Amino acid sequence: MHISIIGAGYVGLVTGACLAELGHEVVIMDIDESRVEKLQRGIIPIHEPGLSRLIEKNALDGRLDFTTSLEEAVKASDIHFICVWTPPLPDGRADLTAVESVAKNLGEIFSRLTPPKPIVVTKSTVPVGTGARIREFIGQSYHEPFAVISNPEFLREGQAVADMMRPDRIVIGGDDEEAVAKVSSLYDAIQAPRILTDLPTAEMIKYAANAFLATKISFINEVANVCELVGADIDMVKEGIGSDPRIGKAFLYAGLGYGGSCFPKDVRALQQFSNHHGYDFKLLKSVIEVNEQQRQLFIDKLRRHLKDLAGKEILVLGLAFKANTDDVRESAAIDIIRRLQAQGAKIRAYDSLALLTAQKVLDGDIKYVGHPHDGAKGAHAIIIATEWPDFKDLDWPYIRSQVANPLVVDGRNLLDAKLLRELGFTYEGVGRK
Ligand code: UGA
Repeated sequence: MHISIIGAGYVGLVTGACLAELGHEVVIMDIDESRVEKLQRGIIPIHEPGLSRLIEKNALDGRLDFTTSLEEAVKASDIHFICVWTPPLPDGRADLTAVESVAKNLGEIFSRLTPPKPIVVTKSTVPVGTGARIREFIGQSYHEPFAVISNPEFLREGQAVADMMRPDRIVIGGDDEEAVAKVSSLYDAIQAPRILTDLPTAEMIKYAANAFLATKISFINEVANVCELVGADIDMVKEGIGSDPRIGKAFLYAGLGYGGSCFPKDVRALQQFSNHHGYDFKLLKSVIEVNEQQRQLFIDKLRRHLKDLAGKEILVLGLAFKANTDDVRESAAIDIIRRLQAQGAKIRAYDSLALLTAQKVLDGDIKYVGHPHDGAKGAHAIIIATEWPDFKDLDWPYIRSQVANPLVVDGRNLLDAKLLRELGFTYEGVGRK
């Protein structure tokens, strides 16, 4: 099938490359000329394992192209995926300016080209009701039949290509059965349960999924906080409850809380639009509050050991919002660094992928190091802020010999507590014995 992808961001690039890999003819459109020009030369603007190879392969095979012209993309396609961003507004609502402007432009282009029943699909995470608004915007200038479908993505950064090619489920919502079946057939080569439903239900599934996962994280974080008070161990509690298949072990890692470009934004948006429709989503208020509290509790823990943080040299290991990405959006590590700076601490920072992205958002006098060992000399505390697995394999005896004060505060429960204590470190995790 012929597909246009509107928006060459993270979701658009992964969706476009994977649909091309499934055998479709795909044109990815973006208004950013320099981005499109780079993509045409094979330069991929985001770090995502497997994506460059997929783009290169499908572009060479002639199934994947890039353009800055929406009209050109629309002309070449029957199905149009809206993949533009929906950033949060200060009050938590999703900013739909880009989505609405694409819908208006599509309406105008459709009215010029009069394509046979075009299908417009939302991939961007949009509040419930947005599909209906898109229909209105297109309908302002286009009066022939067309369909609007919701096909939310469930891609995790760092695993997005695998998530798209081997999904747990494919959700497609719309009230035009023929269009729903056509969008579903795009994924014929993929074995996964289909959930075919209406537009608002598909839109809601996306928010409910992210909000539920965020709730799991805040829940386990609160349990971990109580574990610390009563002398229980969160790792074993996780095993104990996660072995019940009704609970499951996934997403029960206690620590500094969730970050990234999705959970914080989507939880706030669900709470906000529930409110807008007259419902006070009390649970989500607490999920957000616990997530914020988790960072302050971590700083308090550090202060209990170091007393005054002013002038203390702190080595922060990990800057990305999670491992295997260079993304620092809403990263707990960045928030922690800002809080430490506000208390006068001196920061040394390391991340194997996110040094550059972090430098763009952090201010103040930070010493960025090329290896964790380089930041150890004279440090008063080491913080684990991102769950990079290689931190486990550092030369901890060497680090012990370099630091001014052997304190490790592990915000991700990543390290072997016993080993570190045997080396003479004071080790603190989150809810760990
Ligand atoms: C998340 C969802 O997992 C995807 O299904 C969804 O498609 C995506 O948002 C989206 O809406 O686009 P992502 O933001 O890439 O994906 O990150 P996750 O792997 O879900 O992690 C989110 C945050 O939760 C990270 O900061 C991570 O460190 C934290 N986390 C995760 C925990 O603190 N504990 C856990 O047990 C799991």
